[in-house]
Amino acid sequence: MPNTPPTALQRVPPHIVSLADHERHAQQHLNANAWAYFAGGAADEITLQANSQAWNQLPLAPRVLRPLAGGHTRIELLGRTWAHPVLLAPIAFQRLAHPDGELASAYAAAALGAGLVLSTQASVALETIAQVVLADPGRGPLWFQLYLQHDRGFTRELVQRAEAAGYEALVLTVDAPTSGVRDRERRAGFHLPPGIRAVNLAGCPPAPTATLSSGESALFDGLLHHAPTWDDVAWLQSITRLPVLLKGILHPQDARQAAALGVAGVICSNHGGRTLDTSPATATVLPRIVQACAGQLPVLVDGGIRRGTDVLKALALGATAVLVGRPALWGLANAGAAGVAHVLRLLRDELEVAMALTGCRTLAEAAQCLDGPGEPLALPTLQQLR
Ligand SMILES: Cc1cc2nc3c(=O)[nH]c(=O)nc-3n(C[C@H](O)[C@H](O)[C@H](O)COP(=O)(O)O)c2cc1C
Repeated sequence: MPNTPPTALQRVPPHIVSLADHERHAQQHLNANAWAYFAGGAADEITLQANSQAWNQLPLAPRVLRPLAGGHTRIELLGRTWAHPVLLAPIAFQRLAHPDGELASAYAAAALGAGLVLSTQASVALETIAQVVLADPGRGPLWFQLYLQHDRGFTRELVQRAEAAGYEALVLTVDAPTSGVRDRERRAGFHLPPGIRAVNLAGCPPAPTATLSSGESALFDGLLHHAPTWDDVAWLQSITRLPVLLKGILHPQDARQAAALGVAGVICSNHGGRTLDTSPATATVLPRIVQACAGQLPVLVDGGIRRGTDVLKALALGATAVLVGRPALWGLANAGAAGVAHVLRLLRDELEVAMALTGCRTLAEAAQCLDGPGEPLALPTLQQLR
């Protein structure tokens, strides 16, 4: 993998004007193996579909004649001000979508002032990505997503590499002690092609294989011996100077426990519908997570965010920022760095339009954008219409 900027300046086809257009175009161009991996969810994909449907079903309240001049999309997150509330979610093996992989995503995120969360399972070295992002003065936050490895020594070294490279926070993913039941991937016979691998995990000693006696479960008596627990969160906090956020929080009690441990933030996420199918759409649980955190720590959200209106709704429900997953992959597959940048540009532009049409000058006013239960749309009664 060359440590150079993406060279081929690719163009986004002019008929692509939305994230859904990116998805349709990408489906025609990605091979079936990559498509199954990127697009699929767990089992019957109920949660995958519910994620975007839940945002769609939240109505926005248009407001008129409010002063809008000087408005902006800036947010405060972990003590800094950023241009807008969008981060690229951690997505593994991006070189399956485009030869430049995570490098292209990093250039695009930095150029568009979006945050970047690099996956533990990235297919480009974490140091290369950090160099690219940190060189851009207009960049957004740079975070490293961590899957705890069974070997604590290796995990500690990985954390030290991320710190040394300049990552500003660790995002510990806690919702995937095992993969979900990925039927679509299995039907497609998904496999990683030669040359694409989790390069940052090179040298990680293989997990000891448990010898199972009859009646023992490969999951409970094997893999899950090393599954992280709350004690590991505390351990991680003890070995790093970086703020630690937990990704994959869907239950208010877990959010309270995270807050009690002093984590720096939580990400309300169901892994894009890839782990536990029929778990709730993030838009529906976000308000309870926000309430549980009681303003003590920021709550971010991902899953099914496909429009600027979705971003505004997430902030209206109390999120500080959002992450987008698959749409960035579609942009990447369609046009490399230019494609990811286009996806981010569309979301930023749509967010501004949504703010203007709901009378919001800043995102601090976002809460007014939703038709809250206390303030229903006042439709006239039949009696009044007569
Ligand atoms: C192909 C793919 C790979 C992913 N890899 C990771 C990963 O390595 N680490 C992680 O924490 N989440 C991973 N996720 C979950 C995303 O970070 C994010 O939670 C999800 O994609 C958001 O939903 P969306 O795709 O609907 O925007 C992955 C998601 C997809 C689709």
